[in-house]
Amino acid sequence: MKPIRIALTKGRLEKDTVALFEKLGFDCTQLHNKGRKLILTIPDANIEVVLAKAADVITYIEHGVCDMGVVGKDTILEYGGSFFEVTDLGFGKCKFALAGKQGEDFYTGYAEKTIATKYPNVTRRFFEEKGMDVRIVKIEGSVELAPLLNLADGIVDIVETGTTLRENGLEVYEDVAQVSARLIVNTVSLKMYQNEIEKIIGQIESVCAKA
Ligand code: PRP
Repeated sequence: MKPIRIALTKGRLEKDTVALFEKLGFDCTQLHNKGRKLILTIPDANIEVVLAKAADVITYIEHGVCDMGVVGKDTILEYGGSFFEVTDLGFGKCKFALAGKQGEDFYTGYAEKTIATKYPNVTRRFFEEKGMDVRIVKIEGSVELAPLLNLADGIVDIVETGTTLRENGLEVYEDVAQVSARLIVNTVSLKMYQNEIEKIIGQIESVCAKA
């Protein structure tokens, strides 16, 4: 039988996802000793785990080369795509927020604001809903630099603990959206491997419900 292939977001969500798999009783030896390997096996459960960057998790699911994936709602909101979003896994909790220099009133003045972000689609939708025209500048690294360097009036970014904002003299002006890790499934895989995938979803949901 073909293994069910699960794409897992490397980095922040990885540890919590492996912890979740362990709660399900999966043998995560390979995941703990992965070295530089990118495709790992959970032998007892006939599952293959693919380690990928967040946006690539969505790409692999959409192209059907992975059956299921664990990815942040931030990535889903930014990149969209056609797949089933089946479960809120309850970890990786953070939020999208509009932030900028402490003590400044972002909404005063008539001049068009400049917003720096790694998430231009989320940002555009947020300001469109307000009926507000903004100039969006895409930044790849630490977006917090943009207001400090006076490139932008504000940023739309992920805030988890708030430490990065605080330590750089910035503050949240407004929350944009809540974020957490989600389980996503390829639409065709769900039909082709319905029993196997529904079993895994059921196991994951029973563990998440207890948490
Ligand atoms: C994110 C985000 C902030 C930081 C917020 O970056 O872009 O910079 O985390 O976290 P905090 O509220 O706990 O300080 P991340 O560390 O994920 O790195 P990235 O630049 O690769 O996205």
